[in-house]
Amino acid sequence: MVHHSNLVPWKMLAQRTGATLRWLGLTDEGRLDLSDLNEVVNERTKLFAFTHVSNIVGSENDVALLAARAREVGALSFVDGAQAVPHQPVDVSALDVDFYAFTGHKMLGPTGVGVLWGRDLDALPPFMGGGSMIEVVEMSGSSYAKAPERFEAGTPVISQAVALAAACDYLTDLGLDSVKEHEIALTARLLDGLRSLEGASVLGPDSIEMRGSAVSFVVDGVHPHDVGQSLDDLGIAVRVGHHCAAPVCRRFGVPATARASSYLYNTESDIDALLEGIERVKAFWL
Ligand SMILES: Cc1ncc(COP(=O)(O)O)c(C=O)c1O
Repeated sequence: MVHHSNLVPWKMLAQRTGATLRWLGLTDEGRLDLSDLNEVVNERTKLFAFTHVSNIVGSENDVALLAARAREVGALSFVDGAQAVPHQPVDVSALDVDFYAFTGHKMLGPTGVGVLWGRDLDALPPFMGGGSMIEVVEMSGSSYAKAPERFEAGTPVISQAVALAAACDYLTDLGLDSVKEHEIALTARLLDGLRSLEGASVLGPDSIEMRGSAVSFVVDGVHPHDVGQSLDDLGIAVRVGHHCAAPVCRRFGVPATARASSYLYNTESDIDALLEGIERVKAFWL
C-alpha cells in the first residue's frame, strides 16, 4: 500500500545490511491484510514501516494499533503521514509512534522540503556531514549538534522551510477538523456517484470509513491514460499512472489507475463535473 518512498529506501537498507524485507498484503477492498500481522511483525523485526493514509487506494490505517504491535515486539515504528497531515489533525504522541514523516508539496507548501518527527532523534547518528551540523570539530575528532541541526548539514532549503511553515500556519488557522469534514462530504459524493456509474470501479474502500480523499478508479474498456487525457480536454484534472505504488497496480491486475483527490479548494460542482466527465469519456471511447 505504501508509496515507493516508503519502500525503496527500506529495500536499499536491506541490501546494505543483509536485513530481510517482509510485508503485509492488501485485501480485495484495498485495506492492509492484518491476518498475518503477528507472523510478519515478530520478535526479529527491527523496524515496522507503514503508511497512515494510502495515496493510491485511499485506505487509512489504524496507526495506534500497528505501532502497538511494533512496540510489543521491540521494533521501532515509522509512519509515512504525507497523505494524513494535510487532511486531518494528527497527534504523534497519542498514536505512540517512533517516527512520523510528511512532505510540503501535499499541503499547499513547496517541493523539496518535508518534516521528520522522531521520539528520540538524538539517538540517531547524522546521515550527512557538513557545516551547521557540528558541535566541535577538531582534526582528530568531531562531535555533533543535537537534533534537528545534526540532520541539516550545509545551507538548508531556507525559502522552502519558511513557505512550509506558512502552509502549516494557514492549515492550522483554517482548522484541520474543518478540512477533514469538507473532504468527507466530497469523497462520499464521489464514491456514491462512481458506484452508480456503469463500467466504473474503485480500487480501494468504497465507503468513507477510515478513508482519505484519494479515489483511484478504472473505467472498463478505456485505458486510464486515455481517461486522464479525455478528462483533461474537459478541464478536469486527475492523475493517472501507478502513483508511485506500482506493486498495488500489480496486486489488482491493472496497468494504472485514474485518481481524483479532493482537497480544501474543491467543491461539490467539481465532483459533479468529474462524474459527468466520466460519462463523456465513456461515450467517446466505447
Ligand atoms: C503517501 C506519500 N508518501 C510520500 C510521498 C513522497 O513525497 P516526496 O516526493 O516529497 O518525497 C508522496 C507523494 O509524493 C505520498 O503521496
